[in-house]
Amino acid sequence: MKVYIAKNYDELSKISASIIIEDMKAKNDIILGFATGSTPIGTYQNLIAAYDAGEISFKNVTSFNLDEYIGLPRAHEQSYNYFMHEQLFNHINIDENNINIPCGDPANIEENIKKYQEKLDSNVIDIQILGIGSNGHIAFNEPGTSFSSNTHVIRLDEGTRQDNKRFFNDISEVPKEAVTMGIKDIMSAKKLIILANGKNKANAVKELLEGEKTEAFPASILLDHENAVLIVDEDAASLLEDI
Ligand code: F6R
Repeated sequence: MKVYIAKNYDELSKISASIIIEDMKAKNDIILGFATGSTPIGTYQNLIAAYDAGEISFKNVTSFNLDEYIGLPRAHEQSYNYFMHEQLFNHINIDENNINIPCGDPANIEENIKKYQEKLDSNVIDIQILGIGSNGHIAFNEPGTSFSSNTHVIRLDEGTRQDNKRFFNDISEVPKEAVTMGIKDIMSAKKLIILANGKNKANAVKELLEGEKTEAFPASILLDHENAVLIVDEDAASLLEDI
C-alpha cells in the first residue's frame, strides 16, 4: 500500500483529487466509486474545480456509491443520495442515469439490493474512494462483517451512530440500519483511495497499517489490495510507529 502523509486536510484533498483527475484524463468512461461522510468533501470540491476549469468531464462517467441509510427518503437532507447531489453531482455534468446509489427504501430492500449487485457485477470500478470509521468500518461494513460479503443490510454499531449523530438533531434520528456494498465488492475495484484525517482517525490508521488482518477490523483487509493508496493528514498519522 502506498502511503501519503499530507500536511493537512487541504493537501490530502488535493492529492486524492489529483490521482482521480489523472485517471479521468486517461479514460473518459471511467467508473468511479464514491463515499459519503466528511472525509471526501474536499476531494469533491477539487473535482468540481477541475470540472469548472474544463480539465475533466463527467459526461461518460459511471458512479457507484458505497452505502445508504435505510428508512430515510431520498430527499432527506441526511440521505446519502441527497449528500452526493449536494456535494458533487449537482455541480458537474454526470448523467443521472449513470449514477448508482444503493436504495434504502425498506419496502423493497431485497429487490433493490439484487438490482444494485447485478449492476456492480457487470461493471468493474476503476477507482473506489473510501473513508474509514473510527471502529475500522469501510463503507458500512461494521466489525465482524465477512471479508467475502456482497451488498447487504447492516445494523449500524452504536459507536457509528454516535459518530454520525453530528449530522442529525439527536441520536434518536440516526437510522439503525443501512445498506452497504460488501467488502468483496470493495476489494474488486481496480484502485482504492483511502482517506483519513483528524486525530479521531489516528487509532484506526494505526490499526490498519500495524494491526493484524481480522474481520473484527474490516479496514485491515485493505493491505491485501494490490493497488491501494492511503492518504492521511499528520493528525491521523500521529500514532504511527515510524513517523
Ligand atoms: C460513507 C462510508 C463510511 C465513512 C466513514 C467515515 O459512505 O462508507 O465508511 O467513510 O464512516 O466517515 P467520515 O468521513 O464522516 O469520518
